[in-house]
Amino acid sequence: MKIIKIGGGLIAPKDKDRVIDTKTLSEICKALSKSDEKMVIIHGAGSFGHTLAKEYKIHEGFLGEEQIPGLLEIRSDMERLNSNVVSELNKAGINAISMQSSAIFVCSEGRIVSANTEPIRGCLELGVTPVLYGDVVFDRAKKFSILSGDQILGYLFTKFKINQGIFLVDVDGVLKDNKLLKQFSTFSDLSFAKETGDVTGGMLGKLKEIKNYSVQGWIINGRFPKRIEKILKNKGAKGTEII
Ligand code: IPE
Repeated sequence: MKIIKIGGGLIAPKDKDRVIDTKTLSEICKALSKSDEKMVIIHGAGSFGHTLAKEYKIHEGFLGEEQIPGLLEIRSDMERLNSNVVSELNKAGINAISMQSSAIFVCSEGRIVSANTEPIRGCLELGVTPVLYGDVVFDRAKKFSILSGDQILGYLFTKFKINQGIFLVDVDGVLKDNKLLKQFSTFSDLSFAKETGDVTGGMLGKLKEIKNYSVQGWIINGRFPKRIEKILKNKGAKGTEII
């Protein structure tokens, strides 16, 4: 079984406010449909989450009532993005069901401390693909926090019998001094990776989660459907292999 995270930047680029790149989304879904293995799919937020999360400081937890409208708007934006992803997957022939991340995971200080994964298991047993997403979730310490799709991937990777985590991003893989790293070990030092401006840390945040959960798999460019297909068929492709 494989777990795939579709980076939010691919399907909702951060330079446009809450606009879905339907062409890229549909190409990714078609490429995913070529796999005959079981899958869990997660997607990120792109402009559907990051802009308002930053504006309302949602990632800092509860600071005051004035954040509540931001909380509501992000939740409903994520529902909307997710329903588009699920319907595009269905169109591509993948039997996919939406799973509301904020109803499954509870965090403390932004880290998952409790998860009801039974619905995910039930879905997989039916041969149906569960589709989760980065979300604003309830947090025991901060009242709410932002849970990235990358942390969800790591958590589910260890929880279920998953042999590969595949991160689809909008660059060719992990870049070090502008050069593509062909392999990244979960023991590698992270000092080369830079923090990006988004609330879940961009590539650095992703690599931290990969290390946290010892995820094995690939980071590849989701704009090249052929690469996705090859990776799903275990043939290898341009990208960074996580070992
Ligand atoms: C972020 O999830 C969720 C919200 C901001 C609500 P991700 O961190 O997984 O999203 P992307 O992939 O970076 O867009």
